[in-house]
Formats: sequence, structure tokens, C-alpha cells
Amino acid sequence: MQKVASLPLPSADALGASAALSTAIADAIAASGGWIGFDRYMSLALYAPRLGYYSGGAAKFGRDAGDGSDFITAPELTPFFARTLARQFAPLLGTDLREVMEFGAGTGRLAADLLLALEAEGALPDAYRIVELSGELRVRQQQTLAERAPHLSDRVTWLDTLPERFEGVVVGNEVLDAMPVRLFARAGGQWHERGVARDGDGFAYEDRPLDPAAIPAALQAVPGNHDVVTETHAEAEGFVRAVGAMLARGAAFFIDYGFPSSEYYHPQRVGGTLMCHYRHHAHPDPFLYPGLQDITAHVNFSGLAEAAVDAGLAVSGFASQARFLMNAGITDLMMSLDPSDARAFLPQANAVQKLLSEAEMGELFKVIALTRGLDEALPLAGFARGDRSFAL
Ligand SMILES: C[S@@+](CC[C@H](N)C(=O)[O-])C[C@H]1O[C@@H](n2cnc3c(N)ncnc32)[C@H](O)[C@@H]1O
Repeated sequence: MQKVASLPLPSADALGASAALSTAIADAIAASGGWIGFDRYMSLALYAPRLGYYSGGAAKFGRDAGDGSDFITAPELTPFFARTLARQFAPLLGTDLREVMEFGAGTGRLAADLLLALEAEGALPDAYRIVELSGELRVRQQQTLAERAPHLSDRVTWLDTLPERFEGVVVGNEVLDAMPVRLFARAGGQWHERGVARDGDGFAYEDRPLDPAAIPAALQAVPGNHDVVTETHAEAEGFVRAVGAMLARGAAFFIDYGFPSSEYYHPQRVGGTLMCHYRHHAHPDPFLYPGLQDITAHVNFSGLAEAAVDAGLAVSGFASQARFLMNAGITDLMMSLDPSDARAFLPQANAVQKLLSEAEMGELFKVIALTRGLDEALPLAGFARGDRSFAL
């Protein structure tokens, strides 16, 4: 595919790392007879040791391309995101649940701000465990905690593998969208798996016809016979099953962009949801600068709910991010700020507006809560109004 001429050029070092990763991907393609599934490409591009986007040195999170970053997430936008989650978590942690486990903690902002907010709510967990695939991010998380919440950082530990059993609150913001997806293309009524082959010095899509018996069950939800490209999410669903097997008692909250299956596989969504982020430009080319850009797909929340139920969890809520944050009290929390202090108030008000606005993150982002063994007298406030679990 064409490189996007208008995008900022990476540094020479970054281009060198990208070339090394491209060689590793080319080797993987050669070892597999000239073709790999897109999920394998995405896994290498994001997580290959030292060279993948999340394992390597890219700045990733930040406000704009000027700081070399590629995107911004809710915990980076404003501490009011973490403070509102703390409102939802505090009553749970006030029972005999005493631990939090965060998946994919990014820069560590959510961990630091959540711990500070839970301390303020009188519901400090005994332990805050982080599961992070990237060694580079683990170091950034340690730095952020040391800077923002030094007196609480000794409660934080990093896990290399999931414990067999966990009781507490689990949270993951924008983690599921970073899990590798398989791509499928239906053309002329025939399903193909869309994989990756060499193309000169780079890579290109190559579609291979699928035997009817090999068509994933999720694709039965794609109506009609029209041409379409879409994704399936076996890895994210397997991840939810693993969380389900581990969560002996408590609640898991996942926040991400996506839809229920009926919307995901709606006849009008013909191009799928794969999206790449490079220096705050969103574009569809996953072969641009491998290892230097993020690659994501929207989440199919129905598939996750099904995986959760298979693992014995209950789906206790599904709502838009705006609904969830408002139900959990974000507007009350904002009242702690003095609107006449424009320098403090306006940046936070703008950031909260971004979290809530339908045109930005409020509607596309959803929150799902998966629980086991929770006291029914403890309803989850975040879903008090506008729960859409029925749509899953
Ligand atoms: C888009 S970033 C989001 C980071 C952070 N939660 C935030 O909101 O800023 C995705 C994160 O998910 C992590 N990740 C992806 N798959 C994971 C898995 N199976 N277990 C734990 N972390 C994972 C990545 O390493 C990365 O830190």
C-alpha cells in the first residue's frame, strides 16, 4: 500500500526498528509457506518482543503529534475518568473484596489516579495488580506511580501470568481493541480469510477461499450475500474466558469502542472496523511503518458476553460510556471544581465533555460489567439508567 505522504516521518532509529520488525514478519510469512493470517500479523506488529508497537519504544500515548504520540485515551485526558470509576468500585471494595487487577495499564495514569481516588473514597484496596504484556510500558507505569502516587505505589505489583483465582475488581480500558483479530472477506458470496503476504519490500493483503466447514460461527451473523470485509475476535473472547475462569468473586469492567453483534455485522457496515493510529491520524493501512503505529479493531460486545456466560459469569451491565459515567456521578464530581477558576476548570470541563459527547467518545465507547457471586443488594450504579444488556 502507498505510504501516506502527508504524515510525519519517523526518526532514522524508529525506521531501523520498523525494518527489523518487517524482516521478522517476512521470516514468519516465509516459514508459513508465503501467507499468515491477519491475527498473526497484528500480533507481531503490536507485540513482537522489543520491536512490536506496544513492546518497543514508540511514545504511543499523548496529546498531539508534537510529542511523537499517536493517540490519547480517557485516563490520559482527565483524572475525572478514574475518579468516576472509583465511585463505582468503592462500594464493591468496601465489602470483603480487597484487590484490583488492571489489564493493559498503558502509562499507569489510570492506576495512579484510581488509587488516589479510592484513597479519597476510603476504599483503598490492599493490592493493585497490573497485567501488562509490554516491558517498556511496565517501566513507564512504575515511573508514573512513583510521580503521582508515591505513598501508594508499594501496593502495586505486576503479574506475568494470571493467578488461578482472584477475588476483587478487574478493569481494562481500551485493552480488548488492541487484541489481534482475524479478517474475513466475502466476495461473490464466497467467504475468504484475509491474510498477509509479501509485496516487494512490504506486505499486502491476500485472500484465501474458506472451506464452508472452516467459516467461523460469528460470521453467520453477517446477513445477506453482499461483498463485505469484517473481523472476528477469538483472542479477545479467549481472554474473557480466562478472566472468567480466574474471577472467583467480584466484577470485571471493560471499557472500549464497539457494538453489539447486530450493529457490528449490520448490512451497511461493509468495510469492517480495522483502524490504525499514527501521530493522531486514523487511517486504514496496517502495513504502514510496522511497529510504529497502533492497529485496532472495534469490539464485538455480544461475542464477549457470550464468552463470559460460557465461563459462568453474569453480564451485569452494558451501557454507553456517557451513560455509565453520568450514572456513576461524573457531574457531581465536576462540581468540586470552581467554574470561576477558568484555568483549572476549562481544561477539565473540555476533557469531560469529550468523554461524554455523543459525537466523540460518549456513544461509541461502551462499558460492560461481568460479575460472579456479587451481593444483589449491591447494584452497579453505573448501569442504573440506560442499561442495554438486552441488546447483546
Ligand atoms: C490502547 S492501550 C490502552 C492503555 C491504557 N489502558 C489506557 O487506557 O491508556 C492497550 C494496552 O493493552 C495492553 N494489552 C493488550 N493485550 C493484553 C493482554 N492480553 N493482557 C494485558 N494487556 C494487554 C497493551 O500492552 C497496552 O498497554
